[in-house]
Amino acid sequence: MNKTIRIAQNGGPEVLKLVDFPLGKPGIGEVRLHQKACGLNYIDVYFRTGLYKQLLPAGLGLEGAGIVEEVGPEVTNVNVGDRVAYAGGPTGAYAERRIMPASVLVRLPDAISFETAAAVMLQGLTVQYLFRRTYKIKPGETILFHAAAGGVGLLACQWAKAYGVKMIGTVSSDAKAELAKANGCTYTVNINEESFVERVEEITKGKGVPVVYDSIGKDTFFDSLNCLSPLGLMVSFGSSSGPVPDFNLTELSSRGSLFITRPSLMHYTAVRSDLDQMATELFAMIERKKLRVQINQRYALADVAQAHKDLEARKTTGSSILIP
Ligand SMILES: NC(=O)c1ccc[n+]([C@@H]2O[C@H](COP(=O)([O-])OP(=O)(O)OC[C@H]3O[C@@H](n4cnc5c(N)ncnc54)[C@H](OP(=O)(O)O)[C@@H]3O)[C@@H](O)[C@H]2O)c1
Repeated sequence: MNKTIRIAQNGGPEVLKLVDFPLGKPGIGEVRLHQKACGLNYIDVYFRTGLYKQLLPAGLGLEGAGIVEEVGPEVTNVNVGDRVAYAGGPTGAYAERRIMPASVLVRLPDAISFETAAAVMLQGLTVQYLFRRTYKIKPGETILFHAAAGGVGLLACQWAKAYGVKMIGTVSSDAKAELAKANGCTYTVNINEESFVERVEEITKGKGVPVVYDSIGKDTFFDSLNCLSPLGLMVSFGSSSGPVPDFNLTELSSRGSLFITRPSLMHYTAVRSDLDQMATELFAMIERKKLRVQINQRYALADVAQAHKDLEARKTTGSSILIP
């Protein structure tokens, strides 16, 4: 049996069905992968609910790690037996085995386990491009980062600390605040108890921050803009509370000629040499122990509906993986 999660329609976690999905032979440029672990990411919720569209029925999941079992014609970058991982499309990562384009696979160093790779590829490459390309964080700066105790968030706490950056991280509980601090976040704001706009003003002595990384979307968008110093950059990279509402561009000029970007990992990894460089840097951060990947939830693939429920209910911290 090739255990695979498929959805026939968009909806709640109940649409996630465990099926035996037959696999053909890998075609030109493809491999068959035996996956040892799959990543769970908030983007999977967007695909499940239909906020992000795909033709149905379809698989779900964008991240996995495992062993190349069979190689199709014209594949030159990996061989049978290689340990590999990926972050990105096509969806269908929630599976024991799958056919995958070889062009997106990255070979794993011996020191990186399958579980670590499945937990960190998507979230870690995201922090890499957010901090090193979208806006290059600089030692001594103070930045605002939302959902600091989440999967992307805990990696961001550690990465910011490694670069000498003071991170103000928002969280929804005191326990999450402790966790973010233990991971290198300098200041935490419990959004259920205090205003993050006021805390940023207080911490930066009224100056504001040069960059806000906002993955919450609807609930935080305008307040995040209020935290920026003139000419600051708003990085709106997710919508866990719902999509950002339409807004007038004067919202940017009236707050000090702000910049805004809505980045996506797949565009930053589209050029193969960029993906290689990003993955090399990410793995080096782990091998040098600057990043400790925290897999705080492990689920059997069959329990994926519970995993989605926990993620949406804000019950998870750090990274989560599914074991096929
Ligand atoms: N653009 C990209 O390239 C890219 C790549 C990767 C991830 N992302 C985005 O980054 C964000 C984090 O992803 P992740 O997989 O690491 O998830 P996560 O941060 O582990 O989980 C989402 C967190 O968002 C916070 N949150 C605030 N309001 C929420 C709401 N109404 N419903 C649910 N959660 C809410 C919760 O933290 P608190 O309870 O502490 O508030 C929750 O734990 C997501 O928005 C994702 O789409 C974007």
